[in-house]
Formats: sequence, structure tokens, C-alpha cells
Amino acid sequence: MARVMVSTGRGGVGKSTFVAVAARYLASPKLIIDLDPDESLADMLGVDLGESETTTISGLLYEAAAVSGRAGDDKLLREMHSTLRSRCLYRSRDFDLLTLGTKFTVGCYCTPDTVLKDALPHLLQDYEHVLVDSPAGLEHLNRKVVSDITDLFVIIDPSDKSVKHVGRVQDIIGAVDIHYAHLYIVANYRFTAEDEELARRLDGTYLGKINYDPELKRYNLEGKSLFELPNESPAMVSVRTILQQAGYTVSECT
Ligand SMILES: Nc1ncnc2c1ncn2[C@@H]1O[C@H](COP(=O)(O)OP(=O)(O)OP(=O)(O)O)[C@@H](O)[C@H]1O
Ligand SMILES: [Mg+2]
Repeated sequence: MARVMVSTGRGGVGKSTFVAVAARYLASPKLIIDLDPDESLADMLGVDLGESETTTISGLLYEAAAVSGRAGDDKLLREMHSTLRSRCLYRSRDFDLLTLGTKFTVGCYCTPDTVLKDALPHLLQDYEHVLVDSPAGLEHLNRKVVSDITDLFVIIDPSDKSVKHVGRVQDIIGAVDIHYAHLYIVANYRFTAEDEELARRLDGTYLGKINYDPELKRYNLEGKSLFELPNESPAMVSVRTILQQAGYTVSECT
């Protein structure tokens, strides 16, 4: 059964960057899941879903509904499970990637969420590590798409909003009964050494900060894969230390 890590936090704090960089250190087989409808993680990993003829869960649902004329009834959802692996799972030597995807119709993301939620217990059996990148904010916790988490990493920026956010994360996961083994706090690149005092006082295990990395910033600006970042870059080194603090065995990067 996979060790499941989830990266969560407020908008723009560095959740996706953390997942993309952490993925380089964890042993295969590993599955990366992009829960953000904005589906930016594929780009950050250097994956062109279109070119590999991989679709997203939302895309698959749209196609299935268009063909059958039925939108998200139980039978349609059951049929989707068998095609999810073949159509939505991007596979490579380094990692597999599953993307929730953008919807271009009116309505919530309940149906794609349900498809992913039902598929997860089966998928977890095939991997040693599963890394989940969440959309900004709290709603994904209420949606309870991933309900059994080994390591919940809450990425924070130096603000009172992030302090309150950590409290809300704790309250929601308690209220909706999400199981987790560890809740880790990670300070983002905007923290000073002085600000870190604030992070240490939070209810959760503080693992340290991710250093500012101008090269990573440039990679994200140019849409370049974070799998090509040099091993000695500040973000790479910080994430490696954070993973070790969380008890992960870090592999050498490819
Ligand atoms: N260590 C770092 N050094 C410099 N810039 C960074 C670092 N980590 C993240 N960034 C920058 O911060 C911005 C947001 O990062 P990222 O997309 O990972 O955040 P996010 O929390 O996933 O955002 P969203 O809420 O939109 O999903 C990016 O432009 C990225 O380049
Ligand atoms: Mg993101």
C-alpha cells in the first residue's frame, strides 16, 4: 500500500512546486495526482498530456457523456473506472500522473471527484508513493477526495491568514473524518529566519522552510520542467531536507 502525501495551503504558496520537487526524490513506482482543476502540474513536470494522448478525468467524463447522452449517472461512472487507467494515466520511466482536469460545463467538480475517489483505493495498491497536489484553499478537504493520508504537508506563507488557515485545516479534517498519520508545516520561500518562530508555534510538526530559488522561479516563468532543476538548487536542497525530517528515504534524483 502506498505512502500518501498531500500538499495543501492557501493560493500561490508553493504547493505544486513542493510536489514536483518532492517527486524527484521518492522511490518508484510513484503516482502524482493533480487535484487542481487548473491542471498546471503537468507543465511543471514537463508532461504534454495532449501529445501523449492522455486525457483528464473531467475530459473523459465529458467524452463519455457526449457519446452516451447521459451525464454522470451511476452506470456511466462504473464504466469509466475500466477506462480510467488506459485513458487518464500518463506513464513514464520517472512517474505516473493522473489529472482531475478542467471542466468546460456549468457545475461543480463532484462527478470527477467521485470518479477519482472510487478509483483511488485500487490505484494505491500499485504504487510505493502517491503525491497529491491540491487546489488552493480548503474545499478539497470538505470534498474528501483523499480520506486516508499518511503525510499532510501544509505549506504556509508568512501571514496571519496562513496561521488561521492551519487551524481551519485541522478543524475540517477532524469534522469530516479525514484520517492522517502526520500533519507537517512547511514554511515557503517568503519566510525570514525571524518569521519561522511563527511557524514553530503552530499546531503541527514544523519541518523547516523552502529556500528562495531564483532558478526555480525562472523555470516556472518559462514553463520548464522542474525535473530539470539542478540537484544543488536551493529548493531541491530544502525539499530533500524536509522529506528526510518527515522520515522519507530520499533516492538520488534522476
Ligand atoms: N522556492 C521558491 N523560490 C522562488 N519562487 C518560488 C519558490 N516556490 C514557489 N515559487 C514561485 O511561487 C509561485 C507559486 O508557486 P506554485 O505554483 O507552486 O504555488 P501553488 O501553491 O501551487 O499555487 P496555486 O494555489 O495557484 O496552485 C510560482 O510562480 C513559483 O515560481
Ligand atoms: Mg498549484
